[in-house]
Amino acid sequence: MQPLCKAADVPDDEPLRVELPDGHAVAVYRWEGAFYCTDDLCSHGEASLAEGYVEDGEIVCPFHMGSFCIRSGEPRAAPCSVPIAAYKVTVQGEELLIDRM
Ligand code: FES
Repeated sequence: MQPLCKAADVPDDEPLRVELPDGHAVAVYRWEGAFYCTDDLCSHGEASLAEGYVEDGEIVCPFHMGSFCIRSGEPRAAPCSVPIAAYKVTVQGEELLIDRM
């Protein structure tokens, strides 16, 4: 597991983009009292998913309004058809950790 960010840094109503030490960007979500994390880059184009919004457990891409499940990274709405990576988030005190295995 590796450090992600502080739990308090993740707003209730919008995703947070976090760049990991190796340069890989992820989007972190607080939804219904739990934390989720996926890749930040949409699989359909060069969009940052952290600039989209969460609705019913799905991250809606800001470019063409396709969506992905924030738990699994599975595509949920066209034009998205290729899954994105989703990472297990662990809360440790005030910190969030992710498992990128
Ligand atoms: S770039 Fe995300 S839906 Fe097209």
